[in-house]
Amino acid sequence: MRIFTKTKAAVVGALLASTSMVQASDVEVLHWWTSGGEAAALNVLKQDLESQSVGWQDMPVAGGGGEQAMTVLRARVTAGNPPTAVQALGFDILDWANQGALADLNEVAAKEGWDAVVPDALKAFAKADGKWVSAPVNVHSTNWVWANKAVLDANGIAQPTSWDDFVSAVEALKAAGVTPIAHGGQAWQDATVFDAVAMGALGPDGYKAAFIDLDSATLGSDAMKTAFDRMAFIRDNVDDNFSGRDWNLATAMVINGEAGFQMMGDWAKGEFLNAGKVPGEDFLCFRFPGTAEQVTFNADQFMMFDQGGEVSTEQAALASAILSPSFQSAFNVVKGSVPARTDVSDADFDACGKQGMKDLAAAASSGNLFGSMAHGHAAPASVKNAVYDVVTAHFNGEYDSETAVQELVDAVEIAK
Ligand code: BGC
Repeated sequence: MRIFTKTKAAVVGALLASTSMVQASDVEVLHWWTSGGEAAALNVLKQDLESQSVGWQDMPVAGGGGEQAMTVLRARVTAGNPPTAVQALGFDILDWANQGALADLNEVAAKEGWDAVVPDALKAFAKADGKWVSAPVNVHSTNWVWANKAVLDANGIAQPTSWDDFVSAVEALKAAGVTPIAHGGQAWQDATVFDAVAMGALGPDGYKAAFIDLDSATLGSDAMKTAFDRMAFIRDNVDDNFSGRDWNLATAMVINGEAGFQMMGDWAKGEFLNAGKVPGEDFLCFRFPGTAEQVTFNADQFMMFDQGGEVSTEQAALASAILSPSFQSAFNVVKGSVPARTDVSDADFDACGKQGMKDLAAAASSGNLFGSMAHGHAAPASVKNAVYDVVTAHFNGEYDSETAVQELVDAVEIAK
């Protein structure tokens, strides 16, 4: 009992100490950038602020896709103590804006001309009721494949461009005794793979109808069954220890030549770079087979919580640092994403980054740019979570593909 009381007091004490350590000139930043590559990118932002004498109070909450971070955020807001700035995605930003929790960034946005350089696809989530409520950091996309070049070369495998090619490549690796696909069995990772697989199986119109318009007929279509059949194929070609594995450990399997491919957003590139690997030489990046024209995007943004009326000097400094062209280049070169501004040069980006920037511009102008379901840019969290549940249950063998299709129709209908 005494031990319990002491421990509890120590925990409360530590919490109070960490709260009171936040000085007036600090920003407290809640984020989920905890892998090696992510931390390297985050350092670019920390250093930028420190050079302006704004201190950084780090509040990392591990978990790709940010679900855990959002849970911690809700607890902090409920306790009346929101962090200064919070990494967030798509519909979650609009949700907080609608609750009136976010600071109005219009003054800094107007002064720095954000309206002219941030594309509409991002403004749709960065502005609410005509007010800028968050600062877009980047554009990521989920329909990428990462491959170990030496493993592919050793097995005579060329970069697959169609689903059938991909199946042949996977089967060749399996026959050679190499784990074909590195994957981490966590709901958000299953859903990230599903973004790309569904885009390939349904095509862009079908993807939009299913995940953005939430059309029951498309959700229940034969093409959706094909998407689930393809997920089952992927499940059959991951290693036995995939369950619960973090995404960056799956990336490490490809980096180390223990697996051929990983389907993951371009934050995976940050891990390759952090390990000193070079695109085109050590690893390949290419769009998920059958989705070369499309981009399923998500954009990290920092929402600024209203700290009592005015945007604080530190919040304005953070917002302005994030949107500066030099930061947009320096950060995204390391992170694996591409700039959130359309006027940033691709000169400092590697081959994958240059391709990412080209693909994004082309997809935006040809009507092939769509929000990622897995990363909160296609539908609100309630629908996203419903899709996660079905995709994960199917991936883990709870449903066959036909049942999964029916469950998806029902779950989305209830959630929307
Ligand atoms: C974020 C990325 C992050 C990834 C994995 C995504 O939701 O947009 O910035 O690297 O999750 O943590």
